[in-house]
Parts: sequence; structure tokens; C-alpha cells
Amino acid sequence: MSCMKGGRGSLALLATVALAAASSAQAQDATMGKLLFEDTPNVSGINSLTGACTSCHGTVENRRIKIGGSRYAEISLATATERFRLAMASIGAMNQFDALSVAQVNDIAAYLADTPTRSASQLDFTVALTNTASASQFVDLRHAVATTESLRVMGVAVSGANAARFTRSSDACDQQVLAPAASCRVTMAYSAPDTAGAAATLTFTLRQGTSTTDFTRSVALSGVVASAPPTTTPPAGNGSGGGGALGAGWLAALVTANALLWRRRRTLAEP
Ligand code: HEC
Repeated sequence: MSCMKGGRGSLALLATVALAAASSAQAQDATMGKLLFEDTPNVSGINSLTGACTSCHGTVENRRIKIGGSRYAEISLATATERFRLAMASIGAMNQFDALSVAQVNDIAAYLADTPTRSASQLDFTVALTNTASASQFVDLRHAVATTESLRVMGVAVSGANAARFTRSSDACDQQVLAPAASCRVTMAYSAPDTAGAAATLTFTLRQGTSTTDFTRSVALSGVVASAPPTTTPPAGNGSGGGGALGAGWLAALVTANALLWRRRRTLAEP
């Protein structure tokens, strides 16, 4: 009885934590974070602070290089928040920022993480039959919000041994220039002549502002055909042998499709 009560309690707690995480993620405002980063004491209203983030770190790019390894690195909100919080707790010069509110910390973290993003890191395609196009799926490339620089899409490419199986049914990104906060969409489908699974990579090559340095965002692609088509030649000799071979191939494809679906569900369940 008490065990059941405990179970319900943990479930309720989990739901609350999930809701809180979702709403705080929505509330995080990179534009406000930029203002806080550049003039922390005045914008936060905490006059006791000895300086702004820029006093010690110069630019936000300086912090992105430290956290993500490069100026335009892809940095998740979770990583930015964790690194900022850890620094406030462990670095003497940063202890004073403990006085910031949770919302202010979250906004600053959103600014640290404010570089171009893609709406999905992976697209998994499943199609019923060979030589048939799968349902299409899209990925959106979104430019950073709190920047004055534009984002130029130098190229969009699908690479890998099975690249030809993944086709772009529409591409509104290639060679485009995105304003801050603007996004573009690439729509793709999968088609294959056989039931062997395939993988490839969709890569956006980008340049920001007047920079002449390319950087990229990529999306992993996977495709699978769930079943083989009926054989055109009737089974020779005894019918059960041919049927058995087809059955085994079909079963293997089904197992692969199920494994892929399971993996996708698991990916979607991750925050
Ligand atoms: C008085 C100087 C000072 C100020 C002001 C300051 N920092 Fe720091 N910060 C440091 C030092 C020193 C380190 C550790 C060395 C380093 O990472 O360069 C550090 C580290 C960090 C790190 C850790 C990076 C990592 O490797 O994980 C982050 C993130 C960070 N600061 C963000 C900020 C933000 C955001 C602000 C403004 C709210 C800020 N800092 C204000 C001195 C300062």
C-alpha cells in the first residue's frame, strides 16, 4: 500500500519536473540574456555586482568558444545552463552572480546557446515497399535570435554511401540568407531498390555575417524498407521452399523496421 503511494508520488513528481522544465525552456529569452550579458548590474537591477559578463569575458563568442569549442558552436540550452551554473558555484570571481534570479540565469544561458540550430538531429524514414517514396519529413534550420548578423547558407548536401536514396523534395535553404531568428526548411523522402537499411548525412554549410569561415550543422538520416516486394518468378520446385526464403527476408526486414522505430521512440523521449 505504502509502496503504491510512493509510486504515485514519484510519478507526480516526475510530471511536475517535466512541466517545469518545459515551461522554463519556453520562457528563456536570448534577447534579454544579451542585455544582461552586456550590462549585468543595470539590467539585472543588482547594483552590488562589480561588473558585467563583458568586463571579464569581452564577447559572448569568447564564452561560446570556451563552452562549445568554436565561435559558432552548437551549444544546447542544458549545457549552457550547466556550465554557467557550475562557474558561478566554483569560480570566485563569479560567485557574485548567485544574486541573479533563476529567470535571469536562464536568459543568459539562452544567449550563450544562441547560435544557429536545426529542428532535428536525426530523421528516420520507413517505407513499406522498395522503389516507393516514403512519407516526407522536414528539418528547419533556424538562425540565432539575439544577433544583428545574417546567416548565409553556402550549401546543403546529402553525403554518405547511400546518399542517393535520400532525395530533397524541397529545399528553401540552399544559397539563402537568413535574417536573425529566421528559418528555412528542407523536406526529404527515402526510396530504395532493396531492403538493406541505409544511412547518410544532411549537412548545411554556413557563414555568419562577414566571416569567411564555414561552419556546419548536420542531420543524421536513416532509411529502411519494411518489406520485400512479391517475387516476380514463382518459386521453383516445391513452393514451400521459395515461400520460406521470402518469409525469412520479410521477417528480417520487419525486425529491422521495429528496431528503428524503437530507437526513434527512444530519441523522441529524450529531452
Ligand atoms: C570578475 C570577472 C568575471 C565576470 C564579471 C564574469 N566571469 Fe565568467 N568566469 C570568470 C573566470 C575567471 C572564469 C574561469 C576561466 C575562464 O573560463 O575563462 C569564468 C568562467 C565562466 C564560465 C565557464 C566556462 C566553462 O568552461 O564552463 C562561464 C559559462 C562564464 N564564466 C560565464 C559568465 C557570464 C554569463 C557572466 C556574466 C553574468 C560572467 N561569466 C561574468 C570571470 C568572470
